[in-house]
Amino acid sequence: MTSPFPAPAGSGPADAALRARAARVVPGGMTGHLNAARLPAGYPQFFERGQGSRLWDVDGHEYLDFMGSWGPNLLGHHHPEVDAAVARQAALGDCLNGPTPRFVELAERFVARIAHADWVMFQKNGTDATTVCASLARAATGRRKLLVAHGAYHGSAPWCTPVPAGTTAEDRAHLIGYRYNDLASLEAAAQAAGKDLAGVFASGFKHDLGIDQEMPTPEFARGARAVCDRLGAVLILDEVRTAYRLHPAGSWEPLGVRPDLSAWSKAIANGHALAAVAGSDALREAATRVFATGSFWAGGVAMAAALATMDVADRVDLVAHLVRVGERLRAGLARQARAHGLRIRQSGPVQMPLVLFDDDPQGEKGNRFAAAALRRGVYLHPRHTMFLSLSHGDDDIDQALEATDAAFAEVRAAFGA
Ligand SMILES: Cc1ncc(COP(=O)(O)O)c(C=O)c1O
Repeated sequence: MTSPFPAPAGSGPADAALRARAARVVPGGMTGHLNAARLPAGYPQFFERGQGSRLWDVDGHEYLDFMGSWGPNLLGHHHPEVDAAVARQAALGDCLNGPTPRFVELAERFVARIAHADWVMFQKNGTDATTVCASLARAATGRRKLLVAHGAYHGSAPWCTPVPAGTTAEDRAHLIGYRYNDLASLEAAAQAAGKDLAGVFASGFKHDLGIDQEMPTPEFARGARAVCDRLGAVLILDEVRTAYRLHPAGSWEPLGVRPDLSAWSKAIANGHALAAVAGSDALREAATRVFATGSFWAGGVAMAAALATMDVADRVDLVAHLVRVGERLRAGLARQARAHGLRIRQSGPVQMPLVLFDDDPQGEKGNRFAAAALRRGVYLHPRHTMFLSLSHGDDDIDQALEATDAAFAEVRAAFGA
């Protein structure tokens, strides 16, 4: 079967021209995780538009999108119900002298949906939410130390950025590392914090860059809860990446473990800028004392988008859909890798895929695989969590598998089995 995509995809003259202009007026041309220089050659930096499961770069190449804007696209680009809610709210007003009624409506819906939540506060980015959680834990306990898993990403603020430039030792002086899914290491970190332990951060699952993903073990999740209960510390679940994709009421619900605070962003408004911190009643008073605010945090448009996103996600049983298409993709990739004599590892939840190759210490096979898929119109990431959405149907998965079959063949030809 011939590919329906215009070939060859990859960055072109319009992308190159924008990069050259950006290089003059933006440090490095692009900062942070969206910098295409971190990706194999051929990946475009600039995009013109998105629709459903598709993206178009500025040179007109079409891609079947498996990054979903690095998570935010939960229902697909330009979901009509979200677009309609956004248009209605934009016509009324977005950034006013105070919040719109959407603020209260969304807070009520969030509290009803998220199992542990008695209240919610809104922000814009995931980093805002995790930073507010850190402040609330400290305000509630009057203590300083925070436990964070080695390799976990909680955002780009000085206290949590993985890149030390521009930070001071003092910014991170009260962080103590532990190994995710290793209760003994968490206990040791808690002991090191002693009476100064304010909180324990844990991600919905272990999704560190470039290594196998891991679901939390029941022992770890329950143990983390027990440590916090025993020592009077705050258990903080970072749901920024996992939001709505694992379980509608919270990622650790299937384990029967509820955090005291949770941080949300990315998918909750289907691509519109919104974050949230949800908390239990025990933290409510502390939350009133912390000055947590921002000029755009109460914007009505993103809240209207979030309400519409919840409506759709609940109506269609979103998680079941993501699992179904995720299993189709994972099974297809496993079959193909076997057929090509290649050993790959697919880890974590099927709805948030990651494909890594055995015997690939420098990530060269992964880069070759992703670049080969990209040239065939499928936008994968070689080492970061990918994201399925409601807009991915069986046809999309089958089309992606056509491209990955050829991409595996390229890897085999270049590196052998
Ligand atoms: C688990 C987790 N926490 C926090 C963040 C920071 O979110 P943001 O980039 O919106 O500030 C991210 C972003 O990838 C994340 O994956």
